[in-house]
Amino acid sequence: MLIFAVAIAYLLGSISSSYLAGRMIAGIDIREHGSGNAGATNTLRVLGPKVAAVVLLADLLKGVVAVLIAERLTGGQETAGVFAGIAAIAGHNWPIYYGFRGGKGIATTIGVTFTLVPLAALSAGLVAILLLLLLRIVSLASLTFTTLMPIFVFIYHLPMNDFWFTLILAVMALWRHRSNIDRLLKGEEKRLGKKRELK
Ligand code: G3P
Repeated sequence: MLIFAVAIAYLLGSISSSYLAGRMIAGIDIREHGSGNAGATNTLRVLGPKVAAVVLLADLLKGVVAVLIAERLTGGQETAGVFAGIAAIAGHNWPIYYGFRGGKGIATTIGVTFTLVPLAALSAGLVAILLLLLLRIVSLASLTFTTLMPIFVFIYHLPMNDFWFTLILAVMALWRHRSNIDRLLKGEEKRLGKKRELK
């Protein structure tokens, strides 16, 4: 059942709402525009706020649904939710349907973590939102969110399994944001609301 749940989560996570929105609304491949990322932030740049809000919600919800399906299939095993959550994020990042070129997994990570480690996710999320409001750099807020989560798990004395789980998510996010980190270090990462041409 666990393998089945993980496979469902990966296949669900692989459905890219930003890719589908780009194709259906503008007849484009979102990965050829803006930052080239198949995610809500790039959808905001390329297709505007309304479509981006729908994409954010859809990518977030597939994380929630993947975890809930896994828990249902395994009679409420939290471990199954953890593996399914990681699989859903991996599906978003490396989708089987679109040549394994997907997004950076943050919206799906939000859905997964608010379902499995809500207190740590809420705490990290509040700091990240504050930073986003102050600096308007989404990648920095995303990395702050994912990096702070294992720290909050530790501070709140949550189970050690949750620490390793959130640490894996943080490493996945750092890996997917390599180009953003490079631009952040060079002071070249653009803020929300400013046009950028990366390609
Ligand atoms: O969630 C993705 C975000 O952190 C960065 O997206 O398009 O600015 O590389 P982008």
